[in-house]
Formats: sequence, C-alpha cells, structure tokens
Amino acid sequence: MAVLNESLPGGRPPEVHRERYRKQVEGRGVYATAWQGERLAGILFVDWEGSAAEPVRASFPGCPHLIDLFVLPEYRKQGIATQLLDYAEAEARQRGHERIGLDVGDLAAPNYRIAHGIYIGRGYVDTGIEHMDAYTVVDESGSVLAIQERVRFMVKEMKPANA
Ligand SMILES: CC(C)(COP(=O)(O)OP(=O)(O)OC[C@H]1O[C@@H](n2cnc3c(N)ncnc32)[C@H](O)[C@@H]1OP(=O)(O)O)[C@@H](O)C(=O)NCCC(=O)NCCS
Repeated sequence: MAVLNESLPGGRPPEVHRERYRKQVEGRGVYATAWQGERLAGILFVDWEGSAAEPVRASFPGCPHLIDLFVLPEYRKQGIATQLLDYAEAEARQRGHERIGLDVGDLAAPNYRIAHGIYIGRGYVDTGIEHMDAYTVVDESGSVLAIQERVRFMVKEMKPANA
C-alpha cells in the first residue's frame, strides 16, 4: 500500500487506499495496477459493489464501478489506460457482469475530455445521470484538498464472458 500512497501525484489520502485495500482483501473490489519496472505507472480501482451515488445505485444496482483511472504523465499515450480498462472489463465479465460504469467530470476540463473520448471509443455511453462527487486529494506539497464536482455516469454494456 505504501507505493500507492507515495507514487501518484494528486493521489488519494492513505485512508482511501486503506479502505480500498480492505475491500480488495474482502473481495469487494480490486486494484488494477500498471508497472514500468518497479515504478507504479498507472492505477484503476474496480468497486464490485458499485457506485456510492444514490441516483446511480437506483438505476444501475450492482453495476461494477471504475474509480480513479490515472496514468503518470510520463507514461501516457503508451496504451496503459487501455490495458487497465481491458483488465477491469475482462474481470467484470468473468464475474458475470454485463455492465460496467464510471463517472467523468466536467468536459470543459481537458483531462476529462480526453478520458471521455477514451470511454466513448470503448463503448461507454452517457446515461444522463449526474450527481455531485465529493472526495479528497493530496497535492504535491502534501496538503489534503477537499474537492466537490459534478460528474456524469457512463455505462458500458458487455457480452457475457461465455458468449
Ligand atoms: C486519461 C488517461 C488515464 C489516459 O491514459 P493513457 O495511458 O495515456 O491512455 P492510452 O495510452 O491507453 O490511450 C487510449 C486512447 O486515448 C488516446 N489518448 C490518450 N491521451 C490522449 C491525449 N492527451 N490526447 C488525445 N488522445 C489521447 C490514445 O491515443 C488512445 O487512442 P486509441 O485507442 O485510438 O489508440 C491519462 O491521460 C490520465 O491519467 N489523465 C489524468 C487523470 C484522468 O483524467 N483520469 C480520468 C478520470 S475520469
């Protein structure tokens, strides 16, 4: 877990990783990680229990939820996010899920526009469900920032693993 706390700029505070790690140990979630040698280059968490947001839970109960896709800037555009998403979707299908979802923020922000393009290209569609997401990040000076942002929920329909 230390590597998760130390490696990624704009990362989550340690308690967030601790909670996700507990979920992973209990089989309620899984980290997908990408490595360049011994360096953590990218990360994605899959929450098998679905989104915590009520409007999403109401319409897509039990839909696995992808959280915090992030690739270190120096390793971008080399297919790492693609591999992380491939892994997460394949795991979900293996578990019998036929849908997988995620949130994306305001498309006026370049990073979200890029991510949204990637998701659309992979078959995710906008559901029209929007909600406020509140989370904390640690900036490069170590300060914890509380962020609130409006996000939109996207979902991808997948074929069952045995189809
Ligand atoms: C979004 C992000 C995860 C993409 O990671 P990545 O490893 O660079 O993505 P990939 O190399 O797998 O690229 C996937 C596709 O997106 C395209 N792409 C990636 N970055 C791009 C960019 N800056 N501009 C245009 N296209 C881009 C690639 O060309 C590729 O297209 P293809 O499938 O047609 O070949 C990365 O930029 C990132 O960490 N951004 C900051 C965090 C973030 O925004 N996360 C998403 C939150 S919703």
